[in-house]
Amino acid sequence: MKILVIGSGGREHALVWKIHQSPRVDKIFCAPGSAAIGELAECVAINPEQLDRLADFAEKEHIDLTVVGPELPLTLGIADLFESRHLRIFGPNQAAAQLEGSKAFTKEILRANGIPTAAFATCADAATAKRYLVRQKSPYVIKADGLAAGKGVLICATLAEAEAAIEEILVQKAFGAAGDKVVIEEYLDGEEASFMVLTDGEHVLPLASSQDHKRVFDNDQGPNTGGMGAYSPAPVVTPEVHERVLREVLTPLLDGLQRKNIRYRGLLYVGLMITKSGPKVIEFNARFGDPECQPIMMRLKSDLLPLLEATIDGKLDQVTAQWHQDPAICVVLTANGYPGAHDKGKEISGLDKLADWQQGFVFHAGTAKDNNRWLTTGGRVLGVTARGKSMAEAVTEVYRAVGEISWAGMHYRKDIARRALPHS
Ligand code: AMP
Ligand code: GLY
Repeated sequence: MKILVIGSGGREHALVWKIHQSPRVDKIFCAPGSAAIGELAECVAINPEQLDRLADFAEKEHIDLTVVGPELPLTLGIADLFESRHLRIFGPNQAAAQLEGSKAFTKEILRANGIPTAAFATCADAATAKRYLVRQKSPYVIKADGLAAGKGVLICATLAEAEAAIEEILVQKAFGAAGDKVVIEEYLDGEEASFMVLTDGEHVLPLASSQDHKRVFDNDQGPNTGGMGAYSPAPVVTPEVHERVLREVLTPLLDGLQRKNIRYRGLLYVGLMITKSGPKVIEFNARFGDPECQPIMMRLKSDLLPLLEATIDGKLDQVTAQWHQDPAICVVLTANGYPGAHDKGKEISGLDKLADWQQGFVFHAGTAKDNNRWLTTGGRVLGVTARGKSMAEAVTEVYRAVGEISWAGMHYRKDIARRALPHS
């Protein structure tokens, strides 16, 4: 088979790494890919939002399956375009991808189908938003409606901060058109978990559970990021929580979408808060989580391709996924300043020492190669990922590997998977 993966980050490196192990693969292309991805796939200089060029390329190269990494092409309708041209693609169509693309759409679906989530209001003007706000209690959760790379959520301790957040989003347009509306939410207390499933719109195949670490500093301090590290499995997703998510979230959600004539086919990421009264939905994503994808791909024993194909063909009831029992953990190394304005072009040292690493792999999120030197290019730079016999062993191993790597201003969290250790 010839495969095209779209994207260039750590998640796409992990997808390419996993697909590369499939005996059914003859050739992998990645658009646009990266220098590190280029060691496993042929990179093609087309960006994820250049939908027509991607379709032309898939047609010309007789690609058997295109796998979409990031959300933007999905919300722009890449699956609709590919399907109209009879090209096989893994990822939901534009209507279904609204579950990620619009928080207001998602909240309405949740409410209409009785799915547990935070109480909320959606407002398009600052005066209405502030009138609603004064009737709520602290902490206040203020979100830009559209896509904001995981950074469009502000959790405010005081009313003054919350009012400033509303001004920032609706008036100053800090997130551009993504902030044409704000969603004001009840604050949910509990532990978060990422619950990813494959669904063909009818059947659901849950993947292993995982947990992300959104805040930039240890002990969940500092601003939200795209994700500073992840591990799998997440003990907070007990068998009871697992059953409840299937019954209370996924079944009513797919029924609700069907009633709107929306068929979701792809990876559905359910971001959960496990509260005292059970799991509640924080958000949906229409694609694999990044960095959750990295430990999940490391734990997946089965070939990924038949699972993706069964999703497209509506046959997910006919496949199962096998998992390595060993837990896996990914620690994200970031550039100085991330998630704000950050450094670029710093030389990374130590990657050569991990070239033959047996217990893990270093996924690249934002690097480039200049002759034989690796340089930083992104905010999230590397995702150092390891497996171990226990979570404690995986943690020791991953941080040993992290210790081999350095560059000026490198930052990472030292407490990834700490919540899971008492269960280890
Ligand atoms: P979102 O982009 O909606 O996933 O939100 C990003 C992060 O903000 C989440 O992963 C949570 O850590 C936090 N968050 C979002 N909504 C809430 C909420 N209602 N209560 C508490 N924390 C929240
Ligand atoms: N790690 C969270 C996300 O991918 O949205």
